This record gives sequence, structure tokens and C-alpha cells, in this order.
Amino acid sequence: MRESRIRRRAGLRAVLAGGAVLLVGAGLSLALTATANAATTLGASAAATGRYFGTAVNSGKLNDSTYSTILAREFNMVTPENEMKWDATEPSRGTFTFGNADAIVSRATSIGARMRGHTLVWHSQLPSWVSSVSSASDLTTVMHNHINGVMSHYKGKIYAWDVVNEAFADGSSGLRSSIWTQRLGNNTGWIEDAFRTARAADPAAKLCYNDYNTDNWTDAKTQGVYNMVRDFKARGVPIDCVGFQSHFNSASPVPASYQTTLSNFAALGVDVQITELDIEGSGTTQANNYRTVVNACMAVARCAGITVWGIRDPDSWRASGTPLLFDGSGNKKPAYDAVLTALNNGTPPPTTNPPTTTRPSTAPPTTSPPTTAPPTSAPPTGQPGTCAATYRLVNSWPGGFQAEVTVQNNGATTINGWTVPLGLPAGVSIVNMWNAVGSGTSGSINATNANYNGTIAGNGSTTFGFVANGSSTPAPTVGCHTP
Ligand code: GLA
Repeated sequence: MRESRIRRRAGLRAVLAGGAVLLVGAGLSLALTATANAATTLGASAAATGRYFGTAVNSGKLNDSTYSTILAREFNMVTPENEMKWDATEPSRGTFTFGNADAIVSRATSIGARMRGHTLVWHSQLPSWVSSVSSASDLTTVMHNHINGVMSHYKGKIYAWDVVNEAFADGSSGLRSSIWTQRLGNNTGWIEDAFRTARAADPAAKLCYNDYNTDNWTDAKTQGVYNMVRDFKARGVPIDCVGFQSHFNSASPVPASYQTTLSNFAALGVDVQITELDIEGSGTTQANNYRTVVNACMAVARCAGITVWGIRDPDSWRASGTPLLFDGSGNKKPAYDAVLTALNNGTPPPTTNPPTTTRPSTAPPTTSPPTTAPPTSAPPTGQPGTCAATYRLVNSWPGGFQAEVTVQNNGATTINGWTVPLGLPAGVSIVNMWNAVGSGTSGSINATNANYNGTIAGNGSTTFGFVANGSSTPAPTVGCHTP
């Protein structure tokens, strides 16, 4: 089932900078060589910066060998194109059918890809029995049952769910009129209820709000979604991510403010994900548009990944616009090369600068200072301070993970230089490290400060990060010494 809605012209045509944005500047040093980051598939390349690269999958094409070959080779995230929508999963009240969606999940598992769940509450592809529920209380029960029924079936198997899809109208009128607003109110209360229900159903899944025409920062629709997410975050409503569908064509081009939009949403404390990317066109123009979108994601630390809405042009819901990365024969298009290059040039997510705020000081001692005379001997030399390292897993996926290490100066004296001995378990190898220089990529190595973050003030701290291939468990061990 497909929608043929018209995406509104989105103001100014995008300024399509030809050159890749140079992201590796002061304050960020890639400790390993660029070639270590030159992956040859979309998924591996995205993973090198802790991101994913996904596609929508149609269960009816899983037996197509060209389709399956590209899917397994290039993608490490999968979204069912239609198979998890309400009309597919609960076609009649209380009767759940998961066959086609299960086939996609099983394929994703077999190729080592994670899953985006799409979608729980939407006004479209909704079976008619839902639309004929007449009372608010019954519709609330129906919504809860649907979220619980679908999410419990896939509990633990979904990286992120599009909990609510397309609740906002185009333009400035706020929420779209639908069965949801008509029965449950023209306010975000039912959306909040959906997110709270979803959190309880599968606490491990990231919960996203997903929409289209929210790419241009100044658009009223974008602002409406932003205000809802800001309100949810302020009140503790469980939302983890915002999906930008990003269906682009000449009537709805990539806006010049796209990166601004992504980073402004991310600043609310949510991940941003590009969830249904397709860009109509061909050749260099199309390639440049794709490059702009990928560069925007790579420039935003919390842009977790990109999903294209199909594999080959004829697989697209907009096939005549040839909006995807592979042609009908499965050949890579110029847009594919542009995306791969942009991913390989990308910045690892945590572009952490040393914190500018001082850490909270411990409460001053209430005992009076010692009255003994200060030592007359000179202070020990060679011990400018003591440091400690703390390891944190940021993100993991089948076959890899991203981690952050905090280096803490435990003394009151500034330290000038630090080294973190890093014990990498068997099978783990670092593909990319930032804010530190690694002496190797596997086994027992040393991560030494970069030339700009060796100095840590008394009681201050800094961080470095890395992406590695291999399992995130057991965790690497860390130690710390100065210099
Ligand atoms: C929207 C939905 C998708 C899909 C496309 C058209 O973007 O979120 O699931 O239906 O429309 O294929």
C-alpha cells in the first residue's frame, strides 16, 4: 500500500556544496591512518564512526538473489517497508500476524544487521476496524494492546521503534486530523501515552518520533515537532530519537538548513536518525544531494545512522524518480560512490572537547586543618599527579562497538601528559581512535594523550574514544599513569 501525497516545496533550493565539509579540524585528531577508515561497503563504513547504514526491506523480495546479495553486503540496519505496520500486524482486533515481519527479522539476524521497527501508531495503513472505534477509552485500550502485542513479540530484537509516525500536519496547523486526534484529543497527550506504553513494553528499544517535511529548520511543522520533543524531554516522557524521513525531490529539495535541523534536535538530548532517505534524480546532481545529506549526519555527533528507503531504483515507492543508490540491475550509481566517500570521510561521533566546566567539588572538610608543621623535605618529583581511567560502552552492534574512556586527574596538581594502558580482549581490534594516540590496534596497547589534551587541571578530566571490531564483552580494561 503506498501513499501518493505531495511533498510541499520546501523554500529555498539547497545550497549544494560541491566539496565535502572538512570535519577534521583543530580539537579532533584521528589517531590511526585514514586508510584504516576506508571501508568498502556502506554498513562497514558507517560502523567505523559508530553509525549504521540501513535500508527498507520488502519481504516479497527476500528470494531475489540480486536484492539479497546487496542487502547482505551493504547494510547493517533493516526497516520493514510495510510488514510491521498496523494493517499487517493486527488486521483484525486482537489477532496478530507476524509472518512476513518475522521473515525480515530472521534475515536481518542472519546477515548481522539490526532492526528498526516501523511503525506502531500512524493514521495510514490502518485497518478499518481501528478507524471505526468510537470511544476515547476504547481507542486507548486498542492503542495500548497494539503497542504491547507488537513490541512484546519483538522484545529485545529491535534497536529503535518508530512509536508514532507522521502525527503532525504539513504547514502550521499543528497535529494532523486523524482518528487519533478525533477520538483522543487535538493535543500530544495520546502521543505521550504511546511513548510511555512503548517504554514499558520493551525498555531496551530506543523510542523514536518519525515524520517527513521536518527537514527545514524554520518550517512551522519542524518547529511543532521540535516543541513537542522539547516538552517531552523536559517532563521526562520517554523519547530517545527523532526520525527524519527525508524523501527529497525537486519539489522538496534538501534544505540548506538540514544539518542545523539535525543538530538542533540532537541538542535536546535525543538521537537523530535519517529514516527513509530517497532523493529523486540521477548522475552528479543526485550524487551531490546524497553527499550533502550524509555529510550533515556525519557532522552531528548524535546522528546515529541513515536508512535509505529501498535498495534498487525499481524497489522504490517512487521508482520513476530513480531515487536510490543502485540501478535496476543492482549496479552502484554515482550516488552510491558519493555516499560511501562521505561516510569514509566522516567524523567519529563523540567530538568531545575537554569539558569547560569544572567538576563538582567535594564538600569542604568540616574538620579544622591539621596544625602540624608543613614537611620541610621537597615534594616528591616525577609524580605530578595521579590519574584514573573509566571505561564506558557507548554503542554496540553485531561485530563492533564504540567506547569512551574518561581520564580523570585525581590530584589537585595539573598533570602534563597521560597514558592509558588499554587491554583489548582477544578478537577486538580498534579501527578508529580520537582524542588519543594508540600504540597499536589489538592486545595490550597504550593510548596516549593527543598533543592538545595532555594537560588536565587538578581534579579535571578529559575523554577519548574509539570504535572497534569484535565483541563489546568482556569489556576492555583500562589503567592510567602520568605522564
Ligand atoms: C511514509 C511511511 C513509510 C512508507 C512511505 C511510502 O514515509 O513512513 O512507511 O509508507 O511513506 O512508502
